[in-house]
Amino acid sequence: MDLFEYQARDLFEKHGVPVLAAAIATTPDEAQAAATAIGGRVVVKAQVKTGGRGKAGGVKLAENPADARACANSILGMDIKGHTVGTVMIAAAAPIEAEYYLAILLDRSNRSFLVMASVSGGMDIEEVAHTAPEKLAKIAVSAVDGISPAKAKEIVEAAKFPIDVADQVADVLLKLWDVFQSEDATLVEVNPLVKTKDGRVIALDGKITLDDNAEFRQPDHGALVDHAATNVLEAAAKEKNLNYVKLDGEVGIIGNGAGLVMSTLDVVAYAGAKYGGVRPANFLDIGGGASAQIMADGLSIILGDPDVKSVFVNVFGGITSCDAVATGIVQALELLGPKATKPIVVRLDGNNVAEGRAILAKAAHPLIESAETMDGAADRAAELAAK
Ligand SMILES: Nc1ncnc2c1ncn2[C@@H]1O[C@H](COP(=O)(O)OP(=O)(O)OP(=O)(O)O)[C@@H](O)[C@H]1O
Ligand SMILES: [Mg+2]
Repeated sequence: MDLFEYQARDLFEKHGVPVLAAAIATTPDEAQAAATAIGGRVVVKAQVKTGGRGKAGGVKLAENPADARACANSILGMDIKGHTVGTVMIAAAAPIEAEYYLAILLDRSNRSFLVMASVSGGMDIEEVAHTAPEKLAKIAVSAVDGISPAKAKEIVEAAKFPIDVADQVADVLLKLWDVFQSEDATLVEVNPLVKTKDGRVIALDGKITLDDNAEFRQPDHGALVDHAATNVLEAAAKEKNLNYVKLDGEVGIIGNGAGLVMSTLDVVAYAGAKYGGVRPANFLDIGGGASAQIMADGLSIILGDPDVKSVFVNVFGGITSCDAVATGIVQALELLGPKATKPIVVRLDGNNVAEGRAILAKAAHPLIESAETMDGAADRAAELAAK
């Protein structure tokens, strides 16, 4: 999960990373009140989960509260790379002397963590990385050792931070490591980390990505979820522990195993081309043990999607045999009763396939059609969706 800047700022503050006073606002009036409370010059910053806000006009300096109100008025509702601004952060304005860059991230290819640091921070760090890569120091960090004071010093030297800020930057690094480790982040980025005219080092912008796999041991992180942006069906699926992703087509997909579901999406998109561009409506992997309850949960999520016109259940029987899956489908439809309204094409193969097909044939449910092959089933599901 990516956090908003203001959420990253709050986590920084919690772990002692130096930040400035700030508050969020969703109306110009609130922005003015926040600027009054902070006092002096402030910056008004669009809160959207995308980069390049400054260049898009989403970061503005305001001399006084009335000015902050006007800035908020122009930023709220703005579209930044497809994200509509609903919230702004009002923060004290820093007298900037220099802008630096610091990031700690998960480096999957090297199976370690990585620190990136540069004294040429600010809005063009991507450009720096591209045109002057020698200005961006990259230092591997062992997951076992983490960032010790000695390691922080090594990083500060490698990135050639000026001597007068070296100790402060090293201290910020230790605190960012604390954020990274104790909050289970996969990315903690500060751009810019600034040196102010009076010699303080402060994090002016923060990006944090939290590791969703660590949710179970981070009870506080639930409060950071942006419910307004979460698809209701995805939220319902998550509650049932289903791996569901909403897509924008018309054929609901259920399969067992992520690889099979991925190829099912492909064959449906391929078959759908001849029916006027019918496409898969979702990804849903019900995993290994497809019990009637799991099948019912999966079907009810998919049938609850108004975009879905037909459903394709594609199961390869392995440990869970086809007869168990077929029984699951039949029972799921009994559980769903009148809530099940859309045609369902079922393709079973693998362990106990004959028994599975026999169960479906015997049930003779008006919504279920059996198909022999994956391609045939994809074609039929696409045809039904196009009707
Ligand atoms: N509190 C502040 N006081 C003074 N100047 C600021 C403050 N916050 C940001 N700025 C200035 O605005 C620039 C852009 O701000 P920021 O880094 O938050 O946005 P951005 O880099 O455009 O967004 P993103 O990091 O999402 O791409 C900074 O590089 C800095 O010069
Ligand atoms: Mg930035």
